[in-house]
Amino acid sequence: MDRPWKEFLKSGIILLSLSLFVYIFYHIDFLEFQTTPKPPFKIKRVSSDPGSNRNYCTFRPLSPEEIQEENILLDSISWPNTRSKSTSVSLQGTSNAARSNFVILPRPGGGSWLVGDQLEVMINMFDFKGRPKTHGGDFLLTRLHNQALEAGVAGQVVDHLNGTYSAVFSLPWEGKSEVEVTLVHPSEAIPFLQSFAGEKPNGVDFYSTFQSGSLTQTTICSGCLPPTQQPQCNYTDLNTGELWFCYKPKNLSCDARISHFVRKPKPRKAKEDIFFKSGVTMNVGIPASGPAHVTVFPKMKGQLATNSNKDIPGPAGYYYKGLWSSLSGSTVKRFNSASAISQCLKDKVVHMYGDSTVRQWLEFLSGELSDLKVYNLHKLKQSGPYVALDYAKNIFVTYRCHGLPVRMARSPVTELHYVANELNGVTGGKNTVVVFGVWAHFTTFPIKYYIRRIMSIRKAVVRLLARAPATKIIIRTANLKRVSTPLSALVGGDWLSLQRDKILRTMFKGMDVYFVDAWEMTVAHYLKHDIHPPRPIIKNMIDVVLSYICP
Ligand SMILES: *[C@@H]1O[C@H](CO)[C@@H](O)[C@H](O)[C@H]1NC(C)=O
Ligand SMILES: *[C@@H]1O[C@H](CO)[C@@H](O)[C@H](O)[C@H]1NC(C)=O
Ligand SMILES: *[C@@H]1O[C@H](CO)[C@@H](O)[C@H](O)[C@H]1NC(C)=O
Repeated sequence: MDRPWKEFLKSGIILLSLSLFVYIFYHIDFLEFQTTPKPPFKIKRVSSDPGSNRNYCTFRPLSPEEIQEENILLDSISWPNTRSKSTSVSLQGTSNAARSNFVILPRPGGGSWLVGDQLEVMINMFDFKGRPKTHGGDFLLTRLHNQALEAGVAGQVVDHLNGTYSAVFSLPWEGKSEVEVTLVHPSEAIPFLQSFAGEKPNGVDFYSTFQSGSLTQTTICSGCLPPTQQPQCNYTDLNTGELWFCYKPKNLSCDARISHFVRKPKPRKAKEDIFFKSGVTMNVGIPASGPAHVTVFPKMKGQLATNSNKDIPGPAGYYYKGLWSSLSGSTVKRFNSASAISQCLKDKVVHMYGDSTVRQWLEFLSGELSDLKVYNLHKLKQSGPYVALDYAKNIFVTYRCHGLPVRMARSPVTELHYVANELNGVTGGKNTVVVFGVWAHFTTFPIKYYIRRIMSIRKAVVRLLARAPATKIIIRTANLKRVSTPLSALVGGDWLSLQRDKILRTMFKGMDVYFVDAWEMTVAHYLKHDIHPPRPIIKNMIDVVLSYICP
């Protein structure tokens, strides 16, 4: 090649890298946050070739059976009408909640609505020009509620793929029941959510600091890094195969890595932001055409409930007077006093692994049980680890964060353990309870990365249940959060959580494990959505957990 050409290409690559850097930099978000450390270093961006961005990521290799399972899982979360991003970003053909409507269908067979009936609602979507939509793919959330009764239940949405949707509700309580339909994202926004996690595994920048003697350096890390001239340190976990890499610091060895952290994102601007305007295109209520509520009467002897959609799975449970009841068989008992809680946990070992949404359960327990002494090893709120002991009642509780990736303030890398490896160290037995929740920190990573993580955890669960079948395994699902900016939707919005949540549930289906359905418990509740659900919801979750432990 001629020299000028080389120079030209070189500057082109630098320019592209720079724009990639700017793009990535403006896309960072946090899960929860606190003060963020100012970088003690000049951020020097490594050059990368954006063209190869999709291909440089390798995932842990899978066995033929695992590949088959992965394909089934990927099919199961495929979303309609997301084949390609439209090149012109415009609201013209985009679903518009304000112009759309829903209609409560009459009771089949007539008569009054009865407790136990199934209520069906037809949702008709229109675009910003007022034209009916002709394809599906909108992300809708529905719930039936009665504010005065503190009652609520999530609806199940069926996409007819022609611009209309059905929402099906159980009618668990007597009295007024109001239907609420929310357009979380129009179908036009979904490709942007998909590609953000799919193509940009470094949507969030993770860092590690290396130290030896007086020498300190910080570099960028992730589950996969663009190849550059800078060598990489390979922190792949030999047992689970989980991947993690950092660019090697110039004058320090890979063994000198001491801490991990992320930096707070700056707001960014992009043309697709119009699809993520809170109250306009994102999280907007759809009005009723006609009445939005029904009145439900108690069922008399001999009266039959109408139940026309038997193939649609029912809700996991519902709230009544602020209390969650299960509709899937198991009874939720109330543990309203410290003595009731500690009586249930007496002689138990509870190991909790996960993110801050699992840590909330430990915080709740420690708030309720004054005899449960909580110790935080490094006084680091996010990474802990925490140990809690009630010596007299013989209650032992631990909490550990789930390992990389985690979006958190600076933490020693020695405390970032993968859940699967931790489970391998649990003896188990009838007095052992294992709780985990792994989802929120994975929304910026490709779904294949999450599938592998759950596979490794599941393998460890299978081994644990084989050596100690009486061990109680409790899985906390994802929950809704408050999403108000384009960045928060793209980095960790509810659609991304839902995709991972479906994978998690499918992968543990049929196993001897218990679910706490945080998704429905936040959909159905009247309080505002929050990544960290407020106390009344946590109280109900703890009731569910303790009901599993002490049926
Ligand atoms: C859409 O499909 C549903 C289910 O097949 C059907 O009931 C409805 O009439 C269709 N609506 C339109 C507008 O085609
Ligand atoms: C990282 O290390 C693992 C385990 O030793 C190895 O299998 C893998 O090939 C390495 N990856 C790279 C990109 O060097
Ligand atoms: C690394 O070491 C070289 C040679 O000792 C020195 O010139 C350079 O400044 C060092 N770089 C950093 C980042 O400390």
